[in-house]
Amino acid sequence: MTVIPETSGADLDPRVLRDVFGTFPSGVVAVAGRVGGQLVGIAASSFTSVSIDPPLVSFSVARTSNTWPVLRDAGELGISVLADHHDRLCRQLAGPADRRFDDLALRSSAGGALLLDEAVASLTCSLHAEVEAGDHVIVLLRVHAVCAEGDRAPLVFHESGFKRLHRDDLDPAALDGRINGEPVRKPVGEPGTEPGTARGAEDAA
Ligand SMILES: Cc1cc2nc3c(=O)[nH]c(=O)nc-3n(C[C@H](O)[C@H](O)[C@H](O)COP(=O)(O)O)c2cc1C
Repeated sequence: MTVIPETSGADLDPRVLRDVFGTFPSGVVAVAGRVGGQLVGIAASSFTSVSIDPPLVSFSVARTSNTWPVLRDAGELGISVLADHHDRLCRQLAGPADRRFDDLALRSSAGGALLLDEAVASLTCSLHAEVEAGDHVIVLLRVHAVCAEGDRAPLVFHESGFKRLHRDDLDPAALDGRINGEPVRKPVGEPGTEPGTARGAEDAA
């Protein structure tokens, strides 16, 4: 990325903000549901976990979105965490609305949530609240069901491009073994990785 010198006031324009916000890496999810028989959805990199009790997640959607005013009426919404081979699929989900689901392998919950095959994780949610936030709306979703594939790597979105994670990027030893009071997940095979003891990485994600 090009260097951005300290910028403020009137110079804090959309291009500068997009570049600086884009330095923060994220995953990407598909947010999708069935509305009146139609398959409706978008790709979103603004997804984040919010609360364990009650279970809440969020994403931000542009107020200019044509899809959200329709998708918000789905009874249930599916969140699929995209895997590292889903870069093309991601672009498709962000492209022309009538072709977003062409040739996609999907399953549907009884309540209409649409979940992608081969996702890293899948969450079945319903709309909890919407908070207006400038040119976006923060959408809070209540989580009803989850599942995760342990061995799939996520797609990473960073500086307007897709990247991959390296497994050794996070050294548990350097984190004093705990994040938010919970044990840090150790690489498989190391002492302390017994089933049921590895929790807590979610707040650092
Ligand atoms: C990697 C990636 C991440 C995106 N993240 C978001 C997001 O967090 N929020 C959002 O409103 N749109 C996001 N978009 C754009 C939407 O997927 C979609 O293109 C946009 O909502 C326009 O379509 P619509 O008018 O049908 O809503 C993202 C697109 C891409 C390719």
